[in-house]
Amino acid sequence: MLIASATATTQLASASTIVRLSLHVLAASVWFGGQIVVAGLLPTLRSMGEEAPRKVAQAFARLSWPAYWLLVLTGFWNYAAVHGSSQSSSWNAAFGAKMLCVVVAGVGAFLHTRAKTPRLRGIFAGVGTLATLLAMILGIAIAG
Ligand code: HEM
Repeated sequence: MLIASATATTQLASASTIVRLSLHVLAASVWFGGQIVVAGLLPTLRSMGEEAPRKVAQAFARLSWPAYWLLVLTGFWNYAAVHGSSQSSSWNAAFGAKMLCVVVAGVGAFLHTRAKTPRLRGIFAGVGTLATLLAMILGIAIAG
């Protein structure tokens, strides 16, 4: 007697999906990973002189903001590619929450660079980084 066995197969991603998601994840790693690395290097930078943290922050901004805008650009590409408007309402709720986090992440990072006191700088950095973490987690959730 023949017994049919169900074998699950997973298809490889198409070339355009590989390019789209690789760019999105690359930009997320520069924007988010860079923030964590710079924060981790702060004590060492402070020990190198008063100017060192500011100079490194300025240099990082030249990388992080293009990465942020690349995230937005590839994010809209993602939305179009996965036909966001025809996804479930829970998918769209998670996507909406992710968009809110992206805006808070950008505004938090911007206000962090403009803050006049160390306390405010710390608060805005914390809010921006937390919002970025949530945007990343929600991105993984909606990618399924
Ligand atoms: C702080 C900014 C952002 C971070 C950290 C982030 C992170 C991520 C991550 C890690 C994924 C999962 C990718 C994977 O499949 O491996 C993802 C997916 C996704 N992101 Fe973002 N993202 C950001 C901004 C945006 C923006 C601005 C949009 C829309 C305008 C967007 C739309 C999407 C969509 C639709 C997916 C699902 C893609 C798919 O299923 O193929 N993201 N995001």
